[in-house]
Amino acid sequence: MKVLLIGNGGREHALAEAVVRAGRGARLFAFMKSNNPGIAELAEDIRLGSLKDTDAIAEFARLSRVDLALVGPEEPLSHGLVDALRKVGVLSVGPSKSLARLETSKTFTRDLLEKYSIPGNIRFRSFTSPDGIGEFLSELDGAVIKPDGLTGGKGVLVQGEHFFTRKEAQEACLKILAEHSRVIIEEKLEGEEFSLQCFTDGNQVVAMPPVQDHKRRFPEDRGPNTGGMGSYSDANHLLPFLNETDVARGLAITRQVAAALKEETGEDYRGIMYGGFMATGDGVRLLEYNARFGDPEAMNVLPLLTGDFTTICEGIVSGTLEKKGISFAKKATVCKYVVPKDYGLPPGGGPSSGDLRIEIGATGPAKVFFSSVEKKPGGLYLTSSRAIGLVGIADTLEEAERIAEEAAQAVTGWVDHRRDIGTRELITKRITHLKGQREAKGS
Ligand code: AMP
Ligand code: GLY
Repeated sequence: MKVLLIGNGGREHALAEAVVRAGRGARLFAFMKSNNPGIAELAEDIRLGSLKDTDAIAEFARLSRVDLALVGPEEPLSHGLVDALRKVGVLSVGPSKSLARLETSKTFTRDLLEKYSIPGNIRFRSFTSPDGIGEFLSELDGAVIKPDGLTGGKGVLVQGEHFFTRKEAQEACLKILAEHSRVIIEEKLEGEEFSLQCFTDGNQVVAMPPVQDHKRRFPEDRGPNTGGMGSYSDANHLLPFLNETDVARGLAITRQVAAALKEETGEDYRGIMYGGFMATGDGVRLLEYNARFGDPEAMNVLPLLTGDFTTICEGIVSGTLEKKGISFAKKATVCKYVVPKDYGLPPGGGPSSGDLRIEIGATGPAKVFFSSVEKKPGGLYLTSSRAIGLVGIADTLEEAERIAEEAAQAVTGWVDHRRDIGTRELITKRITHLKGQREAKGS
């Protein structure tokens, strides 16, 4: 079996490993924007090019005679890669451009939940002009402001953190409207977030263990939102602050959304549906859907898959996905991303990343997933984004955190990582936070 992987981050390195590790001796081909040394080592053949260039990717798929494609990031999905691949006879784990609106248009998704009376929606409105923004803001106790479209999780502004007054909120909306066609204003939720990634062939929806990501750049959840600084999952396939009902609610919402998408478009959604949920004092709410695996969350769950990943992929693309072949080891995982010191921060005249060499020392039992690093004759160099994901896998979160932290510290150079991810101290805060919310709402 030949699989074409599209993308070049830590998530895709974990996908590449899952493909190659699967028992059926699958052969890997990769189309990447930049050469990820971890993927290159596992692949039989690679091509470098723009991930927006759907024709070039489809041509590589055709020439390599691949059996299916596995699309890592959202960018090619938003450019219609899956439609382009279908035209050359290659089926994909990933939605068509129309179905990828689940991620590319937050308005589409919120409207879908509303139209099909799916639980978990929150108060929101989207605006294409300043008209009515002030009025809607005055109806909300707290607001979150987002551009409608792909922002890599980086464009979201939260009241009380990124802006304070209504006047600042209005100014922020105008600024977004100057650059994007729509701005979304939502009620601000208080609670704890979890990522629930699901495999689906459009009918069967199977959940992977829930994961908690850490979007903020700095310890104690301070600083700007990033693509994700690290993440953890627990051995019992819950999270320390979640119960079975919370996870079941997230899955039930995703099942209803898959059915609504089919009803709305007449097409089966075949790929990954990743719900970003918030457990609040009065239930589980939807923050957003992503039409792909999470990065870093893929690095937590894919190494735990005990079944054959390529069989799951075949089930997805052929509409024959079966729950019984899908299982995950009962282990805890902690992933920490090592990033350039200025990752996620406004450009500030720091050293140019192209010259920054990093050394990887003894990473012990941790799994090492490469992301934005370049291999040159002198060694490994940083580029501008998250560099290396280190994943600890163990029976307890404590042990998994220790493994990931020691490995992250073994990567040296102009780098940083969040030491607090997966620590008992931070997790206790999460538990206490949600417990307080639940007590306040009497739930
Ligand atoms: P998104 O790209 O929509 O997932 O938003 C990025 C981050 O902003 C989320 O992970 C949350 O931390 C925060 N956020 C988004 N929407 C809300 C909301 N309605 N209430 C509170 N926080 C939010
Ligand atoms: N970890 C957040 C994302 O993949 O969008």
